[in-house]
Amino acid sequence: MVISVEDARHEARRRVPRWLFDYVDGGAGAEHSLGRNLSALAGIGFLPSVLSGAGTADTGTTLFGIAHRFPVALAPVGMAGMLAPGGEIAAAMAAARAGISMCVSHFALASIEDIAAAVDPAGLMFQLYIFRDRAMTRDMVGRAWAAGVRTLVVTVDTPVTPLRLRDARNGFRSATRLSGRLAGQCLLRPRWLHGTLRRPDRIIRNLEPYGMGQTLFAQAAAIGRAIDPAIGWDDIAALRDLWKGRLILKGILRPDDTARAVSAGLDGVILSNHGGRQLDGAVSPVETLAACRDAAGSGLDICVDGGFRHGTDVVKALALGAQGVLIGRPWAYGLATGGMSGVGDILTLFHTGIQTGMILLGTPDIADLRARGRDHLHIDPAG
Ligand SMILES: Cc1cc2nc3c(=O)[nH]c(=O)nc-3n(C[C@H](O)[C@H](O)[C@H](O)COP(=O)(O)O)c2cc1C
Repeated sequence: MVISVEDARHEARRRVPRWLFDYVDGGAGAEHSLGRNLSALAGIGFLPSVLSGAGTADTGTTLFGIAHRFPVALAPVGMAGMLAPGGEIAAAMAAARAGISMCVSHFALASIEDIAAAVDPAGLMFQLYIFRDRAMTRDMVGRAWAAGVRTLVVTVDTPVTPLRLRDARNGFRSATRLSGRLAGQCLLRPRWLHGTLRRPDRIIRNLEPYGMGQTLFAQAAAIGRAIDPAIGWDDIAALRDLWKGRLILKGILRPDDTARAVSAGLDGVILSNHGGRQLDGAVSPVETLAACRDAAGSGLDICVDGGFRHGTDVVKALALGAQGVLIGRPWAYGLATGGMSGVGDILTLFHTGIQTGMILLGTPDIADLRARGRDHLHIDPAG
């Protein structure tokens, strides 16, 4: 049983090959945004109300139309299935058990059909990249719908993949096959290697029908080229026409883009800098959350991700106006550490951390936390 996300991170480092740990743990460029996500949250202070008489806190809420026992969802993490046998299916089951949703990556190893067969698809979202090949994109959307998914999350902050120094040093995502260097790192993790070699699903199953490579390494090198770098609001309008369920944009940071999402008929946005993996130097989403909330009005669900490592971080985001929070690396570390139960441990940490934090803050439920909002926080006037 891990007692913190940081512990799970250290354990993950010991369990999986270096190239895989670095792929998960690292960010773009100098990793300024990666660090900024953590420091922005650490810099927000609470102003707890004492003697509120509540004594308990109800963490139940609804995110993007899906009931949650607490306001956290699993963020899409491409190729997470490499971290442990059963991969994304184990994570989806852990999320379902914890009473929260999972947003399945377009680049999950397990197919959306197989994940949706393992859990109630009403608790799943599907994350889509818009490919240059629109027929391929439409087909993927149709598959998610046919699998029973009703919430589609379109990621819009990834027109190109920037230099990620750790991946570049390891030669990951440039090599189209397992190089001697990568293989050597695998040999240093025999337990992981044993589990991985016994599995049939060592490729991105969602991409299998589209002929994008026969191995994970070939696929990983190909996906950057497949994503259309020139998508625009007209593509979002086309998706709005195509998708009859809830449509969410992921990867927005600006208030004006948030307002545009409202007029484009979207149901929600996920404010995100992609966990510091895309534009290095981009602000942390919690820094722009309050302004985006103000720009959106009440009609749009806003979630946020990037750097959430404690239940109290989630409480801060809700006080700033978010409906909920997505976590990426924390569940990936949990998966690497202990499969389904490792993810479950991480979710328990978040749930109890949110509950305890709310009681200490003096707020009895999510509605009260959000209604009092910034009144719960100490906002430094000097910024
Ligand atoms: C290893 C890894 C792979 C990711 N793959 C995807 C992806 O396929 N699609 C996507 O929209 N975001 C992807 N993300 C970004 C996450 O969805 C999320 O925005 C980010 O991890 C949040 O930051 P956190 O890791 O600090 O929680 C990935 C993140 C990581 C760490």
